[in-house]
Amino acid sequence: MGAPDWAPRLGRIASHRSAVFFEKRVTALVAARRAQMEAGRPAPPDLLTALLTARDEGGGRGLSDTEVAANILTFILAGHETTARALGWTLHLLSRQPEVMARVQAEADGFDIDQPDWADRMPWIRAAFEETMRLFPPAPTMARKALEADVIGGQAIGAGTTVVISPWVLQRHRLLWDDPDAFRPERFLPENRRAVDRYAYIPFSAGPRVCIGASFAVQEAMIALAVILREAQVEPISRIEPRPVHQVTLRAHRPIALRLRKRQTAA
Ligand code: HEM
Repeated sequence: MGAPDWAPRLGRIASHRSAVFFEKRVTALVAARRAQMEAGRPAPPDLLTALLTARDEGGGRGLSDTEVAANILTFILAGHETTARALGWTLHLLSRQPEVMARVQAEADGFDIDQPDWADRMPWIRAAFEETMRLFPPAPTMARKALEADVIGGQAIGAGTTVVISPWVLQRHRLLWDDPDAFRPERFLPENRRAVDRYAYIPFSAGPRVCIGASFAVQEAMIALAVILREAQVEPISRIEPRPVHQVTLRAHRPIALRLRKRQTAA
């Protein structure tokens, strides 16, 4: 709140401790996995193994342990809570819309990761996830500092001013969306997707600093939804709508409670 940068802050001390904790744990994990693989012992087919075995197409160079650890930390810090929140809100919205749920589950029943076009075969799952991120953007605001004086939409912005860009506001704006507060995944079906203005829908931001993990996140979420929904019927427990709260990411004011029943039709 305007205190000089050198002033000690509780939050910073706590976050520094967490950063050191994560860095130590991840560095140790990378070293252990590398040793396991070099000893010829089988390694699980996960992200860590993928990063350790990745080779540059040109010269065959792999990533150093520090680079692998940095990538894992990015996934934990930037990619975990964001994707998890979006998945929670998606299951919440689907649990309240049986017709959409039925379409999504029909796609989930045919999900086969070995098909190269698996993602194209699940337009409703993708659309439900994208529409959820419109209504509940995991990162509801972003901030930028103006390098120099400017005018945006007739508004004078002084040099050094912090400008807040809010997906939450843009993505529910009445001038930009028809029936903005309604959950209507059809907006994001392939035949309608092109009508969505690139700058009216920015859950992953836009421009040169757009989220580097955007397409990974969408694919990961689609897989998670397909796997959960082909096995389980997801039903609401309470009719009380969870209230969204902005605490770094957009969370519900209390945990979203859903009942999962094993589906009779599951393969
Ligand atoms: C649904 C999931 C996700 C959402 C909604 C999301 C959202 C965002 C947003 C809005 C930004 C821009 C922030 C800003 O400029 O102030 C961003 C940046 C970033 N995201 Fe994501 N993200 C998600 C998943 C991921 C994943 C899985 C990764 C893992 C690689 C990731 C890595 C990053 C990184 C490294 C940046 C900084 C990019 C840069 O500044 O050049 N994100 N993300």
